[in-house]
Amino acid sequence: MTEVSRRAFLGRAGLAAGGVAVGGASVGVLAARTDSDSTQNRDRPAAPLDPQDWDSVRDQFALSRDLLQFAAFVLASPPRQVTDAISGHRARLDEDTNGYLNAREPELDSAVISAAADYLETEPETIALTDSTTMGLGLVYTGIRLSPGQELLTSEHDFYATHEALRMRAARDGVGVRRVKLYDYAGTASVDQIVTRLGEAITPGTRAVALTWVHSGTGVKLPVAELVAEIRSRAMTLGIERPLLCLDGVHGSGVEDTSPAELGCDFLITGAHKWLFGPRGTGFVWASTQSWAELDLSIPSFAPGVVGAYIQNLDPVGVAPGAAATPGGYKAFEHRWALAEAFAFHQALGRDRVAARTRGLATQLKQGLAQLGGVRVVTPMDPELSAGIVCLAIEDASIFELPAVLRERHGLVASVTPYSLPHLRLGPSIVTSPDDVEAAVRAIDKVR
Ligand SMILES: Cc1ncc(COP(=O)(O)O)c(C=O)c1O
Repeated sequence: MTEVSRRAFLGRAGLAAGGVAVGGASVGVLAARTDSDSTQNRDRPAAPLDPQDWDSVRDQFALSRDLLQFAAFVLASPPRQVTDAISGHRARLDEDTNGYLNAREPELDSAVISAAADYLETEPETIALTDSTTMGLGLVYTGIRLSPGQELLTSEHDFYATHEALRMRAARDGVGVRRVKLYDYAGTASVDQIVTRLGEAITPGTRAVALTWVHSGTGVKLPVAELVAEIRSRAMTLGIERPLLCLDGVHGSGVEDTSPAELGCDFLITGAHKWLFGPRGTGFVWASTQSWAELDLSIPSFAPGVVGAYIQNLDPVGVAPGAAATPGGYKAFEHRWALAEAFAFHQALGRDRVAARTRGLATQLKQGLAQLGGVRVVTPMDPELSAGIVCLAIEDASIFELPAVLRERHGLVASVTPYSLPHLRLGPSIVTSPDDVEAAVRAIDKVR
């Protein structure tokens, strides 16, 4: 489908279905069914979490079991320990906003940051809290310090928010932004091809590389460690300072068992309300202390050290770089503070076990789909080049109609990728089971 015809279609779909969300779910289409949804899980008595038992893990979620929840990663429904924490903080805030905030804010903020640091195996000072990946991308791409003639390099495969943040930066200060195509077809992408193409695109002017860990339009997971090595070697060959690697990590965090240090990137920008199943409206940016120093900030921080210094007409000293970079303003604190519980939940399950479970389900799904005629699995089979997202193309099917058909007739919740070449997208995760995967394959079989 050409870009023009897609736009025309989106216009029509928008009228017919009440809109197509940028996250990829046809919100309008789904609304009717959602209103009458079963409340079975919400009403189920709270059973304690047994982290070794994936059924018990699923029981922690209020998500309806009437549906096969393969778009749960688009916007999270958090597990019970997170929703309980949200409710607890909300009740206290509603009761005595000023008192609760004054008494608990510093302690609860630092509990979230410590929980994030434990999960990421990093120092609390390196973490800034945000409301979303998009906010973090805006923060980073607005702020990277550039000398005259330096440019930003991105790829063809990144999400709207990366491209748009870079476009805005270019429009504002005339900075050059280039895009490289890292692979022609996701299914045949290889580590070598991706690494070579990125290396060749780096020029003496490249100051930062803006990439996405797991592409939400194809499901391709970038070989980040190899890219880091290539960037370093190319910089040495060109005799330039090593370009910074900034990564939209939202479809890797909560799926992959890799810390930012192991990834080797300079900035990891992530929302916590997708695969991490944190409260909606939460996210973070991680950067090493050295990398934070490369950023000019644009949104005032409410960190006590920053505000205190302002009041005393002093320069802030000793403020952690992550805290200084955390956009200020009063927040939906019940959501922010409950994020600590999402990290605790993942720690209880084990980052390695979540990664293995998601990989196992995604592999089962891809193998099942690959057996179906007329269906092309777009996402690579190789777990080295894929994570939880599974994209597929179905011959002769009208892609934008499929989510509604799958949901209404087969109880399968799927989304369409919000890219110029759209694909059907399924995300097996800790809220789906091997039986769900089999049922999803059967549903796709019926609509192909
Ligand atoms: C790669 C990627 N980055 C960012 C986003 C937006 O995330 P957030 O809602 O956290 O801004 C999406 C989709 O929603 C995405 O696919």
